[in-house]
Amino acid sequence: MVLLLLAFWTAVVNTVPEDIAKIIVVGPGIQNVQLAFPSRYFFILHRIPKLGSVEIRPTKRLNKNPGRGCHIWPQVFNQTRFCIRLALSDLRQSFQRIVSLNDVLDLANFCDDEQPDGTESDDQSMVTYWLAIVRYSFHRGHWQCDQPLELVIYGDHDGQVPIYRRPITNQNKPFYSEHCPCVRNEWPQLSQCDSTDNRQLQQRIDHDLAPFRSGINFTSILDEAINRFGQYPQTYAFCHYRIKNNQAYKRCYGQYDGFSKFFDRMLLSLMRKTRLSDSQLLMNLGDWPLSQIKDTRPLPIFSWCGSQQTNDIVLPTYELTESVLNGHDRISTDIHSTFGRQLFGFSSKQNRLFWRGRDSNEARLKLVDQSMLMPNHYNVAITNFFFYRDRMTKYRPNNTTTIPYVPFKQFFDYRYQINIDGTVAAYRLPFLLAGNSLVIKQQSQCYEHFYHLLEPGKHYLPVNESLDNLSSLLTNLIEQNDLKPIKRIIWTARMAVIRWLMPSSIYCYYYKALESYSQLLIAQQPFDESMNLITDDDDLNYYGTCPHGCQQHATTGKDEL
Ligand SMILES: *[C@@H]1O[C@H](CO)[C@@H](O)[C@H](O)[C@H]1NC(C)=O
Ligand SMILES: *[C@@H]1O[C@H](CO)[C@@H](O)[C@H](O)[C@H]1NC(C)=O
Ligand SMILES: *[C@@H]1O[C@H](CO)[C@@H](O)[C@H](O)[C@H]1NC(C)=O
Ligand SMILES: *[C@@H]1O[C@H](CO)[C@@H](O)[C@H](O)[C@H]1NC(C)=O
Ligand SMILES: *[C@@H]1O[C@H](CO)[C@@H](O)[C@H](O)[C@H]1NC(C)=O
Ligand SMILES: *[C@@H]1O[C@H](CO)[C@@H](O)[C@H](O)[C@H]1NC(C)=O
Repeated sequence: MVLLLLAFWTAVVNTVPEDIAKIIVVGPGIQNVQLAFPSRYFFILHRIPKLGSVEIRPTKRLNKNPGRGCHIWPQVFNQTRFCIRLALSDLRQSFQRIVSLNDVLDLANFCDDEQPDGTESDDQSMVTYWLAIVRYSFHRGHWQCDQPLELVIYGDHDGQVPIYRRPITNQNKPFYSEHCPCVRNEWPQLSQCDSTDNRQLQQRIDHDLAPFRSGINFTSILDEAINRFGQYPQTYAFCHYRIKNNQAYKRCYGQYDGFSKFFDRMLLSLMRKTRLSDSQLLMNLGDWPLSQIKDTRPLPIFSWCGSQQTNDIVLPTYELTESVLNGHDRISTDIHSTFGRQLFGFSSKQNRLFWRGRDSNEARLKLVDQSMLMPNHYNVAITNFFFYRDRMTKYRPNNTTTIPYVPFKQFFDYRYQINIDGTVAAYRLPFLLAGNSLVIKQQSQCYEHFYHLLEPGKHYLPVNESLDNLSSLLTNLIEQNDLKPIKRIIWTARMAVIRWLMPSSIYCYYYKALESYSQLLIAQQPFDESMNLITDDDDLNYYGTCPHGCQQHATTGKDEL
């Protein structure tokens, strides 16, 4: 009888009803191809453990006009090692309503990618979906696609017959490279910049702008910034930006103004998508935030990083911004490829802590000290000495001047990662959280724009700023037999990455920060003819410019969305 019952239950477990979708595809790159990104992206959730090939291709061959091809460069990341579990009852009730990524995230339950069907008693009520990330961009020098494209997915077994097809675009709706101007007033709505998740993320903006509710007199803050920082051009660098008629101008102060290019490019990218209000602002180019709380008056200045002693208006770091702007031209780290190229399941990773970095903080040296006491628990090293050259011999036995370079993706060959401040916040946290390892985070005075959403014990494990309790934490982790709680933290962290650190959220964050700030301006500096107009990089112009973008279509008729 018991056996029979068991057999019955097994049958139930293994047979997900036919009406439950095998594949769900969501994300801006498929829902609205008119929304331009350097890399358009979407997510495939599939019930089958392994997908065959995934293609973005013309719906039918158009041989009449060969010059009209769409030169699309797709990338498929199918090694995410990430799954979610959806309750059958939710799927039945809300399947019609699962149209966006948020709908999926709101229903998602923890899934252990090494034991995807779970072991708990609720198994038969849950369905496991695997995640793959797809992104695509135009090849360089190509600007538009007016050919019907479709997404075609094959199963792993019978690689011939597609198991899923869906149009991405059609002939009547050409879509454009991100480099083409395509200004839409409704862009923030199309991008769902006011979604619940984005609003949570943007609480930081409300907080940072709170001291300036009574209005910002730009004339006086420009004078103040020049007085405070302009006389130390070696130490400080900042730019005065002006946005007027959806064009941006700048004048920079300080010797090292190279980092302004990240902000320039983000402004240009936003202004190709939508209209920014006329505005003037200060952007700090240094890592250190500049508006000290102890000073009498808070200075409304934008920075890449915030701290408990300062009240700068924090934007996503240049590292994260650059990774979004470069799409898949980027050679180093980005969120999609880090998330999507996880080679090892957690339990088969080396059971040690991995870290590499510069000597920009004494805690980093301390980490190496600790590793010398317990070499089996750590694989950590300082890659470059600059601040503590005098101690180099201690940390570099035999005076080796270089240590072998380890590519970022190989960090995740190890179970534990640590985020330790450098001069300010370590800008790698978003990328660490995207991977399939456990993140240990040093408590810190510094923060990035999204830290307020992270909870210790839920998205990462905290250690003391001086790393006092790291080695005991690490010993406990390494000796731990029950990996479930660790995997749950990793899963929750990666969910946070999908919710809050994808390109769409970064764009919305910049947009909201700039617009909310602009609304507070009560007095502006008169237009200064000598400021420099910001234009695209030369290497883009090399390929010619976008013929006309979507503007032409917008004027000839109702712009279709
Ligand atoms: C990923 O895709 C490649 C090529 O389409 C395929 O060979 C491989 O098996 C896939 N891997 C997974 C984990 O689905
Ligand atoms: C703004 O500041 C300037 C210089 O401090 C001052 O002359 C001007 O009256 C201020 N404007 C407003 C509207 O407060
Ligand atoms: C340093 O030299 C010692 C003795 O020659 C050797 O055993 C050790 O492996 C060397 N360490 C490194 C990091 O090269
Ligand atoms: C290491 O290099 C420093 C300077 O480059 C030198 O002063 C020191 O003697 C060297 N130590 C050893 C053990 O070779
Ligand atoms: C380490 O110390 C920090 C700060 O006191 C604390 O929040 C954290 O829980 C501690 N972690 C462990 C593993 O003891
Ligand atoms: C945490 O670090 C501070 C100094 O950074 C130290 O005073 C304190 O004792 C540490 N606490 C723990 C629990 O290690």
